[in-house]
Amino acid sequence: MEDVKLYEMAVEAMEYAYAPYSHFKVGAAVLTKSGKVFTGCNVENASYGATICGERTAFVKAVSEGHKDIEAIAIAASDDNIVPFPCGICRQFIFEFGEDIRVILKNNDNKLITYKISELLPEGFRL
Ligand code: THU
Repeated sequence: MEDVKLYEMAVEAMEYAYAPYSHFKVGAAVLTKSGKVFTGCNVENASYGATICGERTAFVKAVSEGHKDIEAIAIAASDDNIVPFPCGICRQFIFEFGEDIRVILKNNDNKLITYKISELLPEGFRL
């Protein structure tokens, strides 16, 4: 699947974001090596620390449905001025399933950019 298509699916997933506290909506689309896509959004909570990021929602949907061979994740956010780099916890979460997983985002010039998760999380923790 083309990166741009996966990114569009992340944008669509943003629609379901539950973000009444930050008003910052995040959508994510995870592409498996077999070509399936799982989407997710951020789900906030009045107990702020209980919030789940969009990336982890999508990953948990994929893995819990038996898909842990992940190729790429696209991430979109509602504020065009912010490039939605995954937070530290999400970087570690993505890294768990492969250091070559590609992370697709839109930069401030409105262009899709791709990183390997190992670039965003060098020397990531492994057991
Ligand atoms: N958020 C994500 O969904 N992914 C990230 O990687 C960073 C932050 C969400 C959490 C919260 O709902 C909102 O963005 C503001 O932090």
